[in-house]
This record gives sequence, structure tokens and C-alpha cells, in this order.
Amino acid sequence: MDAVEEVRSRVIIEDVIGEYVPLKRSGRNWKGLSPFTSEKTPSFIVSPEKQIWKDFSSGKGGSVFDFIMEVEGTDFKGALEILARKTGVDLDQYRSSSGGNSKQKERLYELLDLSAKFYQVQLSKNMDVLNYVSKERRFNKESIVLWRLGYSPNTGDALSSFCKKQGYSESELKNAGLTSQSYRNKTADMFRGRLMIPLQDVQGRVIGFTARTLEADTNQPKYINTPQTILYDKSRHVYGLNNAKTAIRKSNFAVLTEGNLDVIASHQAGVSEAVATAGTAITEHQLKALSRFSGDIRLCFDSDKAGLNATERAIPLAAKAKVSLSIINLSSGKDPDELIRENPKLWQEAITKPQYALDWLIARYTELLDVTSARGKREFSDKMLSVINGLDDPVEKDHYLNVIAKVLNVRVSALSEKFSKGQVEEPKRIKVIKNINEPMDKNQAEYIKTQDKFLALMLKRTTLREFISGSLTKDMLPSENGKKLYEAISKQKDVSVDKLKVKNIEDYVKIEVLLYEELYQGLELDELHDEAARLQADLVHKFVKKQKDKIAVDQKQVSSESDRRLLLEKDKELNLLLTKVKGEI
Ligand code: UTP
Ligand code: MN
Repeated sequence: MDAVEEVRSRVIIEDVIGEYVPLKRSGRNWKGLSPFTSEKTPSFIVSPEKQIWKDFSSGKGGSVFDFIMEVEGTDFKGALEILARKTGVDLDQYRSSSGGNSKQKERLYELLDLSAKFYQVQLSKNMDVLNYVSKERRFNKESIVLWRLGYSPNTGDALSSFCKKQGYSESELKNAGLTSQSYRNKTADMFRGRLMIPLQDVQGRVIGFTARTLEADTNQPKYINTPQTILYDKSRHVYGLNNAKTAIRKSNFAVLTEGNLDVIASHQAGVSEAVATAGTAITEHQLKALSRFSGDIRLCFDSDKAGLNATERAIPLAAKAKVSLSIINLSSGKDPDELIRENPKLWQEAITKPQYALDWLIARYTELLDVTSARGKREFSDKMLSVINGLDDPVEKDHYLNVIAKVLNVRVSALSEKFSKGQVEEPKRIKVIKNINEPMDKNQAEYIKTQDKFLALMLKRTTLREFISGSLTKDMLPSENGKKLYEAISKQKDVSVDKLKVKNIEDYVKIEVLLYEELYQGLELDELHDEAARLQADLVHKFVKKQKDKIAVDQKQVSSESDRRLLLEKDKELNLLLTKVKGEI
């Protein structure tokens, strides 16, 4: 048996999911409130029998691995690791060569956790540092515990000698980034006399530290951080995500700040969507890590020149990571932590009014450059056109060309000319920057829900399969799973669900059965017949709407008369289809 199978066979699905979602028994299934939406009546279902879960409110569903991937924001491998730990499966046994490496990693996780505890205890004993944390930084007890704040004593080897007594070796301390070589060629603690802020991965495991000086001594760096180790990679780490992920998913936006202490202050002020890059430039990895929880990322960086550059650099990365980037402006010139200390309400309000990154950029450059002079106009258009050049949504592109023309008081045609001549500074390729939560996607989600209901009826009731023919065809269905199931059913019209042959969509079929049981079990056949007719017509309508939207966009782009005629033909066909569906009902 391979590792995946071993884990799968040991998992008790309702227990694993029950750790995240309070579940109540409901017949053969378990029910709870959707962790993905803020619904009020439970429509999240776990079926131990089928080994699947289905969330009717978001439309999501799948195996226990899919669930862990969703809630923990991991890939499949990460989900496997989490479930292996929960079920006591030793993945090393299934690995050929890398076994030793992961044992070593486990030791380092334990060592770092022990160190965090050590620092926590030290903080609890040190009145001066406690005072700094609670009086000056205004962190309350809950925050101190939640973020595991600590203190590193100033004695040189306090931590290392403690850890060595607990059985950790010098090389393990070094590999965890807890010691450094300097000190007269002897190893010494990396962090001494500093406020300790543990860096935790998305699952909450300590992978390193950032440490703030407690002295005003300007010779020392304000912060020192764990260097790159096998556990800590600063270009991938997002500080605070372990504590912020639930809020980010619920509110559907993330607030990205610059400082670790900004994050802590923000959560304490009730804004739990805050995370930080901690001083380094944003990377695509970090945006991707965030995008697992929301595609709406609100940056709160300094509005100085450095912040401007950082934002400019972040725009193409956001496009690559397919997230929508906007900017939270703190006009007071303060960072979130300072603003919160002044008044938490100001921060709570600021995060609700982000400005779309491109609009923000235009506003900043308008302030920075003299857009009434020829030179200013050239610089401004160089900068902005290179950004806009990459947008691949023609409507958005057009919109910004018009905005810029207005700002510069020049003709749009002049900008277009500059555009097409390629006189644009370092053109960057940018894909659509679109908020993944736009109504478009809501429509798509509804489209898929309708499909799933329709196919559930087709799957379970062979007598209703007359609806498999008619105006609805396979390519009108929105998802790949749906298309596959539609095809399987249409090729095996008289075969009942338990004998139906399908390939690669076994879990989807199980979910469909569950959906039928939840929605339609016990209803009369003629009611189901009406429902199927309604859903079929609805699917055709949704298909037509989507096609028409697409045609509308295409029509703006085509230049030749023949292309235009082709689109008109298509549109006519769609209208015919609609009339036909009306006739069928
Ligand atoms: P800031 O200098 O803005 O500090 O650096 P801050 O977060 O406002 O800190 P306080 O409020 O003065 O305590 C922003 C981030 O850059 C990183 C840290 O992660 C910090 O949170 N940084 C800063 C370093 O890594 N090293 C430094 O010397 C300074
Ligand atoms: Mn600060």
C-alpha cells in the first residue's frame, strides 16, 4: 500500500473535518455550518459512508485531502503530511532516500518550538521587557500569548546551553538558525537581549524568529532575523498567516503590511486579516500563498518613494499570481501600529477603502511629476504605458488610456501612437488583474451549482434521462467533471447509478449522489420532472448569457467586416436556441 492509501484507510473523515467545523449527526451524514461562507443554516455535509464532503453553500466538495488543502491552504503533499501526522502514519517508511532529511526537519521543528517556549518563559520573568511590550507597544496578554512573544536573555549562550541540556546538538542549533559563529570563534546565541517574535508557518509551526532590539542604541540593527534555513525561506514566508487565514477566507480579503508588530497590533484591534512580508520585497510566492485564501490583496506600505517602487514592482507579480492588488493609504504617514495606538477605528476604516493599485499609481505619479510640462508628460506616459501595456483586458486598457489622456491633457490618439510605436520604457507583460470575486465568478459558481443539481437528477433517475437530449448539449456544461458525467450518462442511458461506468470522476459521482439524497430524496417523480425541465432550461440560459457576454467583448476587438459578421451569426444562433428552449417547456 502506498502512503496515500494508508492515510486514506486510517482517516476518520468526520473526526478530521470535525476539528475545523462543528458537526452534528444527521441521519447517515454529519452536518455543520459552511467554513467557506457565512451561512446561517447548515449546508455543509460530511458522508462517512462515501468518504466525501460537500458544501452546498459554496459549491465546494471532495475527499478529505481536498478539505485539508482548502482549509490549510496547502498543496496535496502538504495535506498528506498533515493527515499522516493525525493518523500516525510514518511517511518516512514510504520514502526511499529522503527519509533522513525529514527526520532532521522534525527535530528542528521541535527545537524551534522548545526555543519559543524558552523565550516565552524568559519574558514572563522580565518586568522591564514586559513593561515595554504592554505599556509602550500596548499589547495585551491575549496577544502576547497568541503570538508567542518572548525575550532572549543577554548572557551569550542562555538558549544554547538550555537546549543542549535537552539533548540538542551544536549543529542542530546552528541548522535551526539559533546560533552564530562570531564570538571569538565560539558559537553563541544568535539572539541576545531582544524581544523575540516567532515566525510560524501556515500551520502554526515555529520556523524561525525575528528579534527587535530593546535599546535605543543606533549601532545595532533594529531587527535581526533567522537566516535562511531548511525550514525558513524568507521569500516564501508570510508572517501571521497562521492566525489570519480564517479571517481572510471569511472576509475575502487580506491586508498586507510591512511589519510584524503591525500585524499583532492589527489583530488586537480586530482586523485579523493582517499579515506581513516583514521588510522584504513582496514575491510571487507570497502572493500565491495568500491567494489560496483570497484573491483580494490590500497593501499597506509606506507612501514614500520606497513604497511606490514596491507597489510598482508588485503589480506585475500580482498579475502573475492572479490576484487583485489594491492599496490602503495612510495619509498620516504613520504605520498601522502607530495609527492603531492613536485610534483603532482609523485603521478599521482604512482597510475598507483600498484604492485599486493602478489608480493609486496614477495618483502618486501625478503628485510626483509636473504633468503640465512636456517632460513630465513624457515621463508620466512612459511609466504608465509600460504598466498598461501588459493588461490584457482590452476594456481595462482602454479605460486607463482615457484616464491618462485626461490627466496629461493630451489626445488619446497620441498615447495610442506612442503605444503602437513601442516607445514605451521596458514593456512588461501583465495578465488581467481581476478580482476573482467579481460578479462574473459568482455567475460561474451559480452555473456550476445548476449543472450539479441537473446531473444529480439525471444520474439517479433513469426515467428522467429524456432531458439528456434536446437543446442541452455537453459543451454547454460549465465544468470538466460535469461534461464527463454528462457524456457517461448519455452513452449509458439505461444504466442505473450503481452500474454506471465512469472514469476519473468517481468522487464527483459520489458527491452527486449525496446532493441528490440531500435535495431530492422522497420527492414525487412528477415534481422531479418539473425540476429537471427547469434546470435544463436554466442551464441553456446561463450558457447563452455567457456566450453573449463573450461576443460583446469580442465585438469591440474585431476589425474586419467578416469577423464582425461571424459574431452576428453566432449571436443569431444563440437567439434561436433561446426560442427553441422556450418552445420545449
Ligand atoms: P520598520 O523599520 O518599518 O519597523 O521595518 P516597524 O515594523 O515599524 O517596527 P517598530 O514599530 O519600530 O518596532 C519594517 C519591517 O522590516 C523589517 C522588520 O521585519 C520590520 O518589521 N526590518 C526592519 C528588518 O528586518 N531589519 C531592520 O533592521 C529593520
Ligand atoms: Mn512601527
